[in-house]
Order: sequence, then C-alpha cells, then structure tokens
Amino acid sequence: MKLLVFCLIIIANVSNNGKASIETIVPATTNVLLSDTTRNSDKSCYRPCKFNVKPRRCQYNFKIEPTLEADGKAALVINAITPGPPIHVCVNDIVIVKVQNKVPGQDITLHWHGVEQKGTPYMDGVPMVTQCPIAFGSTYEYAFIASSPGTFFYHANSVSHQSDGVYGSLIVDQPQPLEPHSSLYDFDKSKDHTILLGARFSELLTGNLNGKHLRPDSIVVNGEKKSSKIFVIPGYAYRLRFVNAVAVECPLVVDIEQHDMVVIASDSKPVRPVSTNKVLLYPGERMDVVVNAARKNGGYWVNVYGLGICEGLIAHGMFLYSGFNYTSLLHQGPTLTSELLNSETIIQGQHLLSLQDQTYYNKDVKTIYLGVDRYVIPFEDNDNDYRYISDGVPKKTFYPAAVSLHDNGVVQINNKNFLYPNGLYLLKPQNVNPDSACNVGEEANHKQLQCLQVLKILDKQVVELALVNEGFGSNDSYTFHIHGYSAQVVATGRTSNGKPISKRDFSLLDKNGKIKRNIQNPPLKDTIVVPNKGYTIIRLKPDHGGSWMLECRSCSFFSLPAAILIDVPQSIPKAVIDVLPKCGSYRPVDVLLN
Ligand SMILES: *[C@@H]1O[C@H](CO)[C@@H](O)[C@H](O)[C@H]1NC(C)=O
Ligand SMILES: *[C@@H]1O[C@H](CO)[C@@H](O)[C@H](O)[C@H]1NC(C)=O
Repeated sequence: MKLLVFCLIIIANVSNNGKASIETIVPATTNVLLSDTTRNSDKSCYRPCKFNVKPRRCQYNFKIEPTLEADGKAALVINAITPGPPIHVCVNDIVIVKVQNKVPGQDITLHWHGVEQKGTPYMDGVPMVTQCPIAFGSTYEYAFIASSPGTFFYHANSVSHQSDGVYGSLIVDQPQPLEPHSSLYDFDKSKDHTILLGARFSELLTGNLNGKHLRPDSIVVNGEKKSSKIFVIPGYAYRLRFVNAVAVECPLVVDIEQHDMVVIASDSKPVRPVSTNKVLLYPGERMDVVVNAARKNGGYWVNVYGLGICEGLIAHGMFLYSGFNYTSLLHQGPTLTSELLNSETIIQGQHLLSLQDQTYYNKDVKTIYLGVDRYVIPFEDNDNDYRYISDGVPKKTFYPAAVSLHDNGVVQINNKNFLYPNGLYLLKPQNVNPDSACNVGEEANHKQLQCLQVLKILDKQVVELALVNEGFGSNDSYTFHIHGYSAQVVATGRTSNGKPISKRDFSLLDKNGKIKRNIQNPPLKDTIVVPNKGYTIIRLKPDHGGSWMLECRSCSFFSLPAAILIDVPQSIPKAVIDVLPKCGSYRPVDVLLN
C-alpha cells in the first residue's frame, strides 16, 4: 500500500510539472456511452427512512476524469456520468465518499453544499482552508454525518470543474411523519423527482485561461436539454426538488405548463407554503415544491429560463402522466409564452418565511459591514500572483489567470480580494503566514490587493452581517454562499432612488429605521442574493466550530476570489489532526466521526 501511495505521488508530481493540458488527455475518437448501472451506486442507502433504526454507513467511490460526451463535447465526469451519481441517504447516516482525482494537472476538492459539517469542519472541501487539495492521481475520503434533512447537492469547489460537470444531488430524507409538509403530497420519490439544473459550455473551462467562453451554451435538466422526464399518476400530489447547480451567475426561472406549484422548502429548510406558477433559483439555491397532477392525462413541458449570464437560454423537461405516449410531445416541441418578463408571481427563496418562528433575538447584535462592489484596479503583472503554496503540492496557479481584470474590474469585499492561505488554515494555522491575514473591518490596514480576510467569532453571540452591493462599479447582483451554516435572511432591499449606496448611506438608512428586519420568521438560507444598489442582511448563531467561507463564487470566475472566512472557535482532537492528510493519499478512520 505504502509503495502504491508513493508511486501515485510521484505520478502526480511529474504530471503537475509536465503541465499536461486537459485537451491533450481527452480521448479524441472514442465516445463514451453512459452506463446506467453507475446511477444506482447508492442502492444500499436509498430506502424509506424509519424511526429507531441504526443509521447506515453509505459508501461511494467517485472517480473524476475528463471524457468526451456523446455529443462530442469534453466534460469532467464522475464515474463516467455528469451530473454525477446521486446520493440519497436518511438523516444521521454517515456519508463516505472516496474521491479519486484522475484529471491531469488539476487539484480537486468537493464541497457538500448546505451540509453543516457539525464536528467535521475538515470535510467541507475548501482547498487550503479545510483540507489539502486532492492532487492528480491521489484520493481523499470524505466522511460526514447527514445531520439535517432536505435537498442538497455536491460540486467541485472550483467553478471551472463544476461548470465542466462535477456536480450531483445529495438528498437527505427523514421518516415521513417528521416532514412538516407531508400532508400536502402523496409521493416524495426523491430519486425520480429531483431536478438538477446545470449548464454546458462550448469548451472545457478547466485549464482554459482565455476567459472567452464564460457564457454557457445551454442549460440542462438532469444533464439533458429536452428529454428529462418526470412521471406522475393523475390525481396525486408530488414533491419535486429543484437544484440550481450552475456555478456562474445564471439565475433560473422554472415553470410547469398548466400546473401550479406550492413552495414548501428553500435551501433544505421548510418554509410557509406559497402557491405560484414560477420559481426563481439563483446558483446554488434549492427549492422543494408540491405539484398536484390534477390535469387531464397528458404531457406537459417543464420550462427553464435563464437569466443573468444565461439570458436567452431555455431548457425543457417533461412532466408526463403515466401511460401517455410522449413521442408526439417531443415531436411538437414546447410552446413558449412570453409572459415570463411581466410575471409578478415569481417566487424567490429569500423572500419566503420560515415555517417556525426563529428568533435569534439579541439586543446588542453588532452589524458587520461587508461592502461588495466591482473595481477596475490598475495593477502590475506581478501582482497577479494569487497562488497558494502547500506542503505536498507543487507551487502552481490554482485559479485561472485574471485576464479580464484590466477591462471589467474585479469584485471585492471591503476593497480586498480573498487570498487563499499558504498553509492549511483549519488544521495547521501556525503554518499560515500571519502577514497575509487581515481582519474583516480592518482591511484598510493591509497594503496588498489581496489578504486572507478573516472574521473571528469570539463567543457564541449572534452575528449580523450586512452584505451591501454598493453598485458604483456595476449593475450586477451577486449570489453568496455561506458554508457550515444556514443563516437567517432578516432583510433585503434596494435603494429607493436607484442610486449607488455607500457605507455611510447604509448606516444612515439603518439609523433612521429605513431598513426593516424580520426577526420573527426570516427564511434560513445558505445561498443568498445581494441585489445591486441594495443589501441583504443575515444573522447566524455560531454554534459549531470551523473555518467557514462566505463566498461569491460566481464573482470570481476568471478573476480574484471575493470571499471572507468566518472563524468559529473549534477544537479538533489531536488524533484527528494526526490522521488527516498531509497532501498525499489518505483514508480516514472512524475516530473522525466520533
Ligand atoms: C407513440 O406515438 C408515435 C407517433 O406519435 C407512434 O409512432 C408510436 O407507435 C407510439 N407508441 C406507442 C407505444 O403507442
Ligand atoms: C449601470 O446602469 C446605468 C443606467 O442604465 C448606466 O448608466 C451605467 O453605465 C451602468 N453601469 C455599469 C458599470 O455598467
């Protein structure tokens, strides 16, 4: 075993130094037919969840590699498919995923989007923050407890790896009587009724440094442009789970012809039911809805409309009553209406209300200001060295070159870009260069364009973060994802005059009571949108330790990262630190989960 590990490391090093470009290793002629058998790799854990039974260990092997899809386009696939194998478990099961990186020249990590990682912050999948990246040829075994029920997904931490196909669903079920809205539906078949929305690009983004093909080519529904199917029986109500699994700024509006939907959950958390005919999901958001199959037997289109960078793109799936011959439906094609633009009934996750009152009320909650904006920064080529150095991986660029900075500027938080640490932050903070760090709120003291922006939480007091999209440098909205927590979205809004908003403007608005907070039943979200020339205010209760990213992933594509690290005190047992990888091949031991 030792020898094998040694060899893999050697191979990894050779490959990294050899700068193998990804195009050269994609097989040029063979088309890979997708095998259906891999879709069932989780047979052992997809089951009706029961009370008082022991949780299971659900084991998966993921091999990530480049391939050519049937349409001739290159993609990164997991076990030969994209989206990757779905993971379906019951709450409290232990999810174990052994990830093998077979993508030459690339470091990979997987992030479990929305999973709290209580007690396992080192399984969160952020390179150099929570783990060493998985180098080409090596493996890493993720292991964590599925501690909360709901709709989640997993994806490569890198925007380009995710965009090239490394994502899949992660559904955590619970005993039906515990589902707060189970009276609203007859069937919750998460395996058949999860709708993963993705995007395809005309070329692989991985290893592509020119940034020309930022706009997706097409939107896909469970990996297909038109032929994904949902089967229903007339007269029954179904729970469907939508996931926007796109990494770039591609909000998606979904409707089902002639069918209303009742929204029952957002980002895995139950909400007060709201009826609508259209839902809007920002990248990384999930929404569970109930659809009543109350129409005549037939076939109906599920329409997915792209916004933002995906403006103009449309994809479809089919909502089919059982026994209906859908050949004719496919033949006819979808009929599109243009009502999308003037629809006022589009439901968006952060405007929903949580099912239970959730008061994190705290008299002296302090507001931490995070000003987000795009700046054009004159800089020299040697400023462009945003690399990390780690113990086991050769020094090399992890993020694509920031070629577009000169023209379009770069999105920053408090006038800084995030700097990934040079040492493993969570486990070996003593290895991180102290000069590279800056505290949130005191960034101005730091001279460089980038610093490791850390918000240190010192006690268990509720923290309020005001994300303000100032809008001096752009008209874009930004989507943020917070790791490890669901945060309360207590307020969101825009300036009434449509003018940019400065820190002073915001403070004044807030002081004058112009910003109304919902502290009674705000939605709990891990993915939030900050409207342009507006704000979104979130609160979180730091009840489990770790180093958690709050990041705008889509902001930093082909650019510098826009993120901060929220550091909640934790103590990781030495026994665990000792077995965690030193950037080589690695197997966890059960002690990690105790
Ligand atoms: C479905 O419809 C198509 C054409 O509309 C027809 O060719 C085909 O035979 C039908 N299939 C079945 C099973 O009835
Ligand atoms: C934002 O929109 C306004 C009004 O349409 C326009 O004048 C301005 O140039 C835009 N700003 C950017 C950065 O695109």
